[in-house]
Amino acid sequence: MVTKTIDTLEELVSVALQLGADQVTGWSRREKERAQATPTHRVNLDELKDLIRAGQDPLGEAFCRIRSPEMRRPLGQTYTPEAIVNSMVEWAADAGIPARVVDPGVGSGRYLLAAADRFPRARLVGVDVDPVATLVTRGNLAAAGLASRSQVIHMDYRELDIERVRGKTLYIGNPPYVRHHQIEPHWKRWLLETARLRGLSASGLAGLHVHFFLATATHGQPGDYGAFITSAEWLDVNYGSLVRELLLDSLGGQAVHVLEPTAVPFTDATTTGAITCFKIGSRPASLLLRRVARVQELGKLDGGRKLARARLLESSRWGPLTRVTPKLPEGYVELGELCRVHRGAVTGANNVWITHRGQTDLPESVLFPTVTKARELFMVGTELADANILRVVVDLPVELEVLDATERKAVDRFLRKAKRAGAAEGYIARTRRAWWSVGLRTAAPLLATYMARRPPAFVRNLANARHINIAHGIYPRQALTDLALRRIAEHLRVSVTVGQGRTYAGGLTKFEPKEMERLPVPAPDLLLVP
Ligand SMILES: C[S@@+](CC[C@H](N)C(=O)[O-])C[C@H]1O[C@@H](n2cnc3c(N)ncnc32)[C@H](O)[C@@H]1O
Repeated sequence: MVTKTIDTLEELVSVALQLGADQVTGWSRREKERAQATPTHRVNLDELKDLIRAGQDPLGEAFCRIRSPEMRRPLGQTYTPEAIVNSMVEWAADAGIPARVVDPGVGSGRYLLAAADRFPRARLVGVDVDPVATLVTRGNLAAAGLASRSQVIHMDYRELDIERVRGKTLYIGNPPYVRHHQIEPHWKRWLLETARLRGLSASGLAGLHVHFFLATATHGQPGDYGAFITSAEWLDVNYGSLVRELLLDSLGGQAVHVLEPTAVPFTDATTTGAITCFKIGSRPASLLLRRVARVQELGKLDGGRKLARARLLESSRWGPLTRVTPKLPEGYVELGELCRVHRGAVTGANNVWITHRGQTDLPESVLFPTVTKARELFMVGTELADANILRVVVDLPVELEVLDATERKAVDRFLRKAKRAGAAEGYIARTRRAWWSVGLRTAAPLLATYMARRPPAFVRNLANARHINIAHGIYPRQALTDLALRRIAEHLRVSVTVGQGRTYAGGLTKFEPKEMERLPVPAPDLLLVP
């Protein structure tokens, strides 16, 4: 094999030069110096050109062999396997025809070469901070006969001042994975400041791939689009919120395809990968999320489960949302698409804050009929119509000054007693805005039990009752008619089995709010059929 004869970076640069690297414009001073200092190393150029034109990457392979994974780590130099490059380019071809293709950390130029085939009229732009990478890319582009429509820029991608073109620009590539410890302080400041200018907050703990997403949102114009493969970390960690927010806003997220480590998305590391597709300027109503175990399953990146923007906005971890659910029947959506599920407030001391109406002299305005036992929901069956069967929770305002003098007197008396009972000391009381203010959620139109030895009760709340943490409240994301709400409840009542929750020792089945959001319910058009 001819690449065996390239054993040093110097030899690699020499070969790139002989392949015609100088035909591709935009040389930096460092590239020129490096080229001048490179003695000629003779190899069989025709054989190399044939391999490159056949879609192989002998120079990139030589680079990864000469520079060990440890040496490549500081710049995140892990080159992308061909099958992944192809899937991403196919997605890009389905999503538009770019006038220009930009690879932000071009490496040996794998994406540009694949895109050149698919988009024969597009300009090709590669950016990289490593002069060996830029010289190799130049050699590859020249060998493939693409020099006249190519430009390679030896520069930090964040500093790129990209000229406007007519038509779309496709941003495609594998932004470097470099942890924050290796990112210089001035670049961390850049991240924070650039995010701030967009009204977003960033974290100094963010890896370099997050910088690349932000830089792309900054360089791109509405109509531009792209696909990046990165580590999947940003989906779930705090510092990833910047990427998640960008995708739900100006970066216009379309889809995220998570690749299990079994797919070995990165040759040097067993990491979960994520391919993110975006269309800049299109504030998305939903995103497709998918998880695949093998690269072959990626296809043209057109599959996935549709998740509403509102649901993604409120989720601080997107990873769990990519997990496969049993296939939804035709005409059904997950409850979470239509409604949020919230656990009720924790009082911190039920013996203090829960009482019966007749047993207190507190003013009516601070007493809220509340579902305080799961049994109350099981008992009423389908509808909770009468609040009088419920106990009340004392929910005082944070600002006690809003109470009038008589009310205040009764409240002060009550609080003195509550304090003596230790109600101000507990963890819950100490962590809320005011220890005396339980902070009940607003009344949910549907209430559900979530822990029992039987399927949950789903109850239409006609009594405007509040709930504490023994029940979940189901809150429509958009107004739903009474008929639709009743149909959702009816459907959940007859369809949900204990098997859909988590079963604990002793046979208790529990539905966390996010698990309940994944239950199938009829889609809105079915719900509204009279
Ligand atoms: C994960 S590799 C991807 C290479 C190539 N696009 C591929 O997928 O085969 C990331 C590339 O980004 C380059 N890089 C690292 N930091 C960079 C920066 N700040 N600006 C531009 N390129 C950078 C590295 O040198 C490396 O070539």
